[in-house]
Amino acid sequence: MKVLVVGGAGYIGSHTTYELIRAGHEVVVLDNLATGNIKSIHPSARFFWGDIRRKSDITRVLQAEAQAGKPFDVAMHFAAKLIVPESLSQPLAYYENNVEGLRTMLEALVDCDVRNIVFSSTAAVYGAPESSICSEGDPTVPINPYGESKLACEKMIEWVAAAHDLNYCILRYFNVAGADASLEIGLDKDQLTHLIPVLMQASLGIREQLYIYGNDYDTPDGTCIRDYVHVTDLAQAHVLGAEYILGKQASLRANLGSGTGFSVKEVVDAAAKLFEVPFSYAPRRAGDPPKLIASIEHAQEVLGWKPQLDLRAILESDYNFRKKLLER
Ligand SMILES: NC(=O)c1ccc[n+]([C@@H]2O[C@H](COP(=O)([O-])OP(=O)(O)OC[C@H]3O[C@@H](n4cnc5c(N)ncnc54)[C@H](O)[C@@H]3O)[C@@H](O)[C@H]2O)c1
Repeated sequence: MKVLVVGGAGYIGSHTTYELIRAGHEVVVLDNLATGNIKSIHPSARFFWGDIRRKSDITRVLQAEAQAGKPFDVAMHFAAKLIVPESLSQPLAYYENNVEGLRTMLEALVDCDVRNIVFSSTAAVYGAPESSICSEGDPTVPINPYGESKLACEKMIEWVAAAHDLNYCILRYFNVAGADASLEIGLDKDQLTHLIPVLMQASLGIREQLYIYGNDYDTPDGTCIRDYVHVTDLAQAHVLGAEYILGKQASLRANLGSGTGFSVKEVVDAAAKLFEVPFSYAPRRAGDPPKLIASIEHAQEVLGWKPQLDLRAILESDYNFRKKLLER
């Protein structure tokens, strides 16, 4: 396959590029480097700077490759803003980058006859679900502009697919963490908000301590339960998803998680077996549901995908990557 990876300099896009190349596919990355890092792009992938909100940035790449006799088979979209609190204070920036960016990209894809898209969505589309195990058919009621923008994107893709004969693979991620086994790439950002990288920073002394928000939830140890999936497993699902829609000329939407829940305290305890983790409890944050676990049966059935890497592998790879960053 020849794949255009939009947002391929970012965390998940760079890991997916690595997996695509390992599986023998050809990759071109398009990224505006707003939050991405040029050093995270696999050396065998070609890179074009571009912003998907500007149609000419995309068509330039699509047309050049088609004119060279090797058009893209699939485009993958990772190019989004994704910090929930920021989306609450700057909703318009989220609609502009995420929704308008995708709209422009879809227009360019349809114009240039690229009819297969893999799209990064999120468990945030479910909002604060009543059922703690989320299936793809569950109600989608986002509770922040980030989740709303992703749901709007999902719907846009469906309508465009129906009108323009497009195949799509929409993947809803749960909590993604960990780093590539090579430690060449990982989650390398200034603003880290997710539990595992924040926990690692606390254990490496980069921040004073980890705060666990709430220990009075209706869960066995009182802390929230979440589903953690290793970024390499997640990236491999994208390769399978792209191969599936291209090979079968069909579409799908699937959750990607591990299908297992760990409480925040269980994650901290697992990490504390490997390294010291200074932490304390803080009050609950608004909008955190007590328990959120993915049903991953659909991805397993349709793509034959099964996560291979467990929580320990996630923790160790993230720790080792962060340690390597400090040594640079
Ligand atoms: N990281 C997670 O835990 C998580 C969870 C659920 C869903 N997602 C989704 O996965 C995708 C990737 O997330 P990530 O963690 O890799 O984020 P990231 O910020 O590391 O990567 C996003 C990449 O897209 C690029 N980009 C952003 N806007 C662009 C634009 N207008 N034009 C061109 N490039 C642009 C950025 O420079 C960056 O390289 C996002 O769509 C996000 O919503 C991520």
